[in-house]
Amino acid sequence: MASISGNASISGNEFPDLRDLLAFYAAAGVDDALVDDPIDRFAESAQRQAAPAQQAASAGEAPRAGADRSAPAAPPRPAAVAAVPDEVQAAAARELASKATSLDELKQIMEGFDGCNLKATAKSMVFADGNPEADLMLVGEAPGRDEDLEGLPFVGRSGQLLDRILAAIGLDRKSAYIANVIPWRPPGNRTPTPHETEICRPFVERQIALAKPKVLVTLGGPSAKLLVGSQDGILRLRGSWKSHVTADGTVIPVMPTLHPAYLLRNPAHKKLAWRDFLEVKAKLRELGSI
Ligand code: URA
Repeated sequence: MASISGNASISGNEFPDLRDLLAFYAAAGVDDALVDDPIDRFAESAQRQAAPAQQAASAGEAPRAGADRSAPAAPPRPAAVAAVPDEVQAAAARELASKATSLDELKQIMEGFDGCNLKATAKSMVFADGNPEADLMLVGEAPGRDEDLEGLPFVGRSGQLLDRILAAIGLDRKSAYIANVIPWRPPGNRTPTPHETEICRPFVERQIALAKPKVLVTLGGPSAKLLVGSQDGILRLRGSWKSHVTADGTVIPVMPTLHPAYLLRNPAHKKLAWRDFLEVKAKLRELGSI
C-alpha cells in the first residue's frame, strides 16, 4: 500500500484526493505522461534555492543566512531534446521541405527534423493515411492520442465519424488522402502554438504540392485559416469554396468544413458538414473524379 501526502492510501475508497486529482487532470486534457520517470519538482526547486549557497561555498564565501545545506539533490533533468521553436527553425523547415521531390522523401526529411518541440513528446510522427494518388485530400489540425499511438491520422472517434462522412458521399480511405497541419501530437491535445504551426507549415504545404489533389477539404478552423490564408472563424469560412495556392502557383479549390471532433460535441451542426460534403461530391463529379 502506497501513501501520498502521508494521509491517504492508493487502494480502496480511502483516497478521494488522488481520484479528484486524476479527474481534474483528465478534465484538463492531461492524459499522458511526457517522460517515463517521475520528476520531483519540489526537489528541483529546493536545489535551485540551494544553488547560490553552493556557489558561494565553492567560491569560498559563507552561505547566505537561511540557505539549506541539506537540500536533497535534484534528480537528473530529462535531456533537452527539443530545440526552441523560432524563425530559424521555420526557415530550416522551409528549406528542407522544398528539397523533397516525392512524398516518401518528404516523410523521411520530416522524420529527421528536430526543430519542432512537439516531436520530443510525441510517440510517433503522423504523416498521412489513404491514397496519395487520390483527387481528394483532407487536412486536419494535429494528431490526438489514438493517432499518436497508431501513427495514422484520424483513427480515433473523430476519425470514425470522418469515415462515415466519406462513406456517405461514396468515398473511403482508398479514394482520399488524409494528413494534418501538425504531424506530432501536442501534449495533452493542447492547441499548437503559432510558432509550432509556422514551423510545420512548409511541410504540409509541400505535402499538398507533391500530392497534387484536385480538391482540398480542411477539417476545422486552424487548417482552414492556414491553408486559405484567412483570419475568419470556421463557421464563417465553411460552406463556400476558397483557394489554396501552392508554391508553383497551382490553385486548388478548398472546402473548409467543421472538424469531426467538433461535430461529435455539437451534433446539431452535422447538417452543416453534410452540406459541405455534398458540395465536395459535386465538385469531384464536375472534375470527373467520381
Ligand atoms: N484531429 C485532427 O485534427 N487530426 C487527427 O489526425 C485526429 C484528430
